[in-house]
Amino acid sequence: MRKSRKPTLNQTQWGGRFEGTPVPIMEEINASIAYDQKLFYQDIAGSRAHASMLVKKKIIKPSVGNAILKGLDKIEKEFAAGTVEYDRSLEDIHSHVEKRLTELIGDDAGFLHTARSRNDQVATDFRLWVRDALDAIDKDLRTLQSALIEVAEKHASSIMPGLTHLQPAQPVTLGHHMLAHVEMLGRDRTRARDCRIRLNECPLGSGALAGTSFPIDRESTATALGFDRPSANSMDAVSDRDFAIEFLCFSAIAAGHLSRLAEEIVLWASPSFSYIKLSDSFSTGSSMLPQKRNPDAAELVRSKSGRIVGDLTALLVIMKGLPLAYSKDMQEDKEPVFDAAETLSLAIRAMAGMISDMAIDCAAMERAASVGFPAATDLADHLVRTLDLPFRQAHEVVGKIVLNAESKGVGLESLSLEELQAVDSRIDGSAMDILDLMSALESRESYGGTAPSCVRKAVASARLKWLGVELP
Ligand code: ARG
Repeated sequence: MRKSRKPTLNQTQWGGRFEGTPVPIMEEINASIAYDQKLFYQDIAGSRAHASMLVKKKIIKPSVGNAILKGLDKIEKEFAAGTVEYDRSLEDIHSHVEKRLTELIGDDAGFLHTARSRNDQVATDFRLWVRDALDAIDKDLRTLQSALIEVAEKHASSIMPGLTHLQPAQPVTLGHHMLAHVEMLGRDRTRARDCRIRLNECPLGSGALAGTSFPIDRESTATALGFDRPSANSMDAVSDRDFAIEFLCFSAIAAGHLSRLAEEIVLWASPSFSYIKLSDSFSTGSSMLPQKRNPDAAELVRSKSGRIVGDLTALLVIMKGLPLAYSKDMQEDKEPVFDAAETLSLAIRAMAGMISDMAIDCAAMERAASVGFPAATDLADHLVRTLDLPFRQAHEVVGKIVLNAESKGVGLESLSLEELQAVDSRIDGSAMDILDLMSALESRESYGGTAPSCVRKAVASARLKWLGVELP
């Protein structure tokens, strides 16, 4: 500490006990204003609720309460107009608002901090911020689901290869494939909802850690801020960051889903696949290779998940092992959450743009779907049904037929009935129909299957479930 008689701005909050001032390096490591200014609106909202409650409970005079509320209105306008000046020595957003309020209404501003600590204040502000972020990202996810459902509807019967191990397995429809992603994003949305439910308890009124001797009304501040109830334990309330970790878990899982979709977009747009062409708006060229159309946005969405997992890891490690209640380590909770929220929202919006704009080459998908003996399983199922063979034996018979086709360099549909019968004489002409890809596809009508009839129904229920829209 440097010896100085002039306290720093923030020391006016606790100056009584201090004789010296922090060195610049202390200020630098201590300050969070560079990023927690994002909590501005939440901080003002929390202060409004607190001030009104203090007046109602006769803890502060109505005239002081009114002056505080008017001052907060003015500060909010100043912030919206971008005229607030930030000062690192003031440390964080809470001190900035209080300092400005003092400039506006004088010492009465000091009554606002009655029965409040920055510990319950920041916990409240941050919950409010994460709650807004969850709501905004839910909207983004809904938009992406809507784009995927549109494609699914248009392509309910467009054949494409269905892969396992990235090898041809069984043909599916593009619609079915798109709806798989809709389900994944739907689970993300329910995770966001679950996180919101647990998050929605109000820490305000917990004080530094032990509550307060003032006769506050925590129900009323909780209600004013849209929380379901006040938090039950003051020590937990100021030291809990589960809601932020859960937000990051949700974000990491959702980003993982986006990265899987992004990887498929990258593959499908590559000339080796050519199933889709991304629009010019979502492609980039190469400075050296004139023929290139690069799916940069999809690649970046794929990579953003790494960053978001990093954000989650950071906060998990920050919180691990902290003794109750508040520790300054917890100031480091904000940047990972802000980063993840911004990154995830951008990734979702970019993905929705790519999906809505992409051109789909159905002929290329259909050609690819016939490569790799995709009807083999259907033929085996047919032999089970018509010859009453155990599936294992049917598998063996079809395996031999595949070997034969492979050695001739043709697909199963090009083999003659005699060639099939050479492997098992009991096979009859009905087997030949099975080798038609479209009829194979149409036969997979089990609930949740890929038959176009199922996909059409699934599109309707996805609309209802995720978009809240009845089919016309
Ligand atoms: N800027 C601080 C944070 O984000 C506010 C709480 C400070 N509390 C304290 N006891 N120093 O965590």
